[in-house]
Amino acid sequence: MKINFTNKSPKKGAVCVAIFDDNKFSDAANALDSDSGGSIRKALETSRFSGKAGQVIQILAPMGVDADRIIVAGVGKQDNDMALAWESYGAAVIKELLTSGLETITFSVGDLEGIYSARIAFGALLAAYRFDNHRTKLSADKKPSVDFVCIDGSQKKTGEVEFSSLNELAEGVYLARDLVSEPGNIINPESFAKCIQGLSDTGLEIEVLDEKDMRKLGMDSLLSVGAGSNYGSKLAIMKWMGGKAGDAPVVLVGKGVTFDSGGISLKPGNGMWDMKGDMGGAAAVTGAMRAIAGRKAKANVIGIVGLVENMPDAAATRPGDIIKSADGQTIEVQNTDAEGRLVLVDAIWYGITSFKPCRIIDLATLTGAILVALGQENAGLFSNDDRLASDLTVAGKISGEEVWRLPLGSGYDKLIDTPNADMKNIGGPFAGSITAAQFLKRFVGDVPWAHIDIAGTAWKDKRADPRESVWATGFGVRLLDRFIAESHES
Ligand code: BES
Ligand code: ZN
Ligand code: ZN
Repeated sequence: MKINFTNKSPKKGAVCVAIFDDNKFSDAANALDSDSGGSIRKALETSRFSGKAGQVIQILAPMGVDADRIIVAGVGKQDNDMALAWESYGAAVIKELLTSGLETITFSVGDLEGIYSARIAFGALLAAYRFDNHRTKLSADKKPSVDFVCIDGSQKKTGEVEFSSLNELAEGVYLARDLVSEPGNIINPESFAKCIQGLSDTGLEIEVLDEKDMRKLGMDSLLSVGAGSNYGSKLAIMKWMGGKAGDAPVVLVGKGVTFDSGGISLKPGNGMWDMKGDMGGAAAVTGAMRAIAGRKAKANVIGIVGLVENMPDAAATRPGDIIKSADGQTIEVQNTDAEGRLVLVDAIWYGITSFKPCRIIDLATLTGAILVALGQENAGLFSNDDRLASDLTVAGKISGEEVWRLPLGSGYDKLIDTPNADMKNIGGPFAGSITAAQFLKRFVGDVPWAHIDIAGTAWKDKRADPRESVWATGFGVRLLDRFIAESHES
């Protein structure tokens, strides 16, 4: 879908105008209403449209209007910061019309500020995402028709400038959604690493460690997870040093289990297919690094993803096995399905020892328990640093990818003690997301650290928001990009 900022409205397709809550007309809506002989007000008289966010109605354009259709869409309440409202507005319109047969949609925005018209375009892009890669029999009427979106307004220049960064962000979100959506026979540790290598075009410096490299470094915790797989485990490192030379970087770590069968502690068959998305943390980190490099962020950021496949096999790790992590601590693997933490701790160790970060943040589809606690609305946030937790919470609110902090504490920490080793990889029946976070905490020392459990937000069976797609959401890309922009760029 091509996006174009213009101040000369094209004469075909649909023209879309915004109305706020309680049918408060935007200037563009007023202008189009009078150009069309009052057709918008007339149409509203016989409809339940009230300007609420998400409402969209279509009117056949009367003679004299330079378009085939008029679209009227709600923005909701007028507030101080309207960025997310305009984003949702753009998304709702595209969601409604993507496969309608219309090819061109022009958002008529009048004098709307450039930051907001760019948001409309960004929302439109987010809503236009589809995962049709493997559908060979999709009929013509089910395919997207909209291929051209114009933003028509006086602030064309600032709109274009603002959109250039958001366009990079949308690329990052698309990349993360593609990676999460692709099944385990297509995205495996080796192909994921290759895909990351392809990102060097964006200016990212890429390094990939293979099993031999990791064995030398003693990363047996990560390696134990991939022991039953036919694919070689990888650790991929993406470097973006756009900030001041010598400033300690932020390290982002992602869980990249390209398929989680549970290993010898095999998962039940029903729903196991969803575990192709168990690399959602790695996808978010990769997408965020893509966006950060694409918009040439003035910050030092390093993305590290641990890429493994968790399979049962004669060579697979057994329940009861004791392994040693790269930092020397020993782990009794009581359940091979609690594998994400085993991958993360070695990747975190690598991040801390190699890059001496000012802050380290990991993202992972780590526990089913986070769905019980927070559902699919908020990701779970755990941190040893109040300032970092607050920065991430703020970035969540601004980006629309929200996080909710849960506690850590020594009482929870005791639940992962075992007489057989320094710790075990499962807690017990209670507080499963917290005991998983306590496990990670044992590996971060005094580095300010946050863990974001995205098991509830990385994918959704139903499309809950017009900016999201049907399954993979790309959760974390917008959050991380905003966090870097707000807290680590001057
Ligand atoms: N990948 C799963 C967590 C998960 C569950 C992600 C549902 C997305 C949706 C993780 O590796 C896992 O299996 N965790 C276990 C931990 C348990 C064995 C302590 C879980 O949550 O059941
Ligand atoms: Zn698992
Ligand atoms: Zn998992």
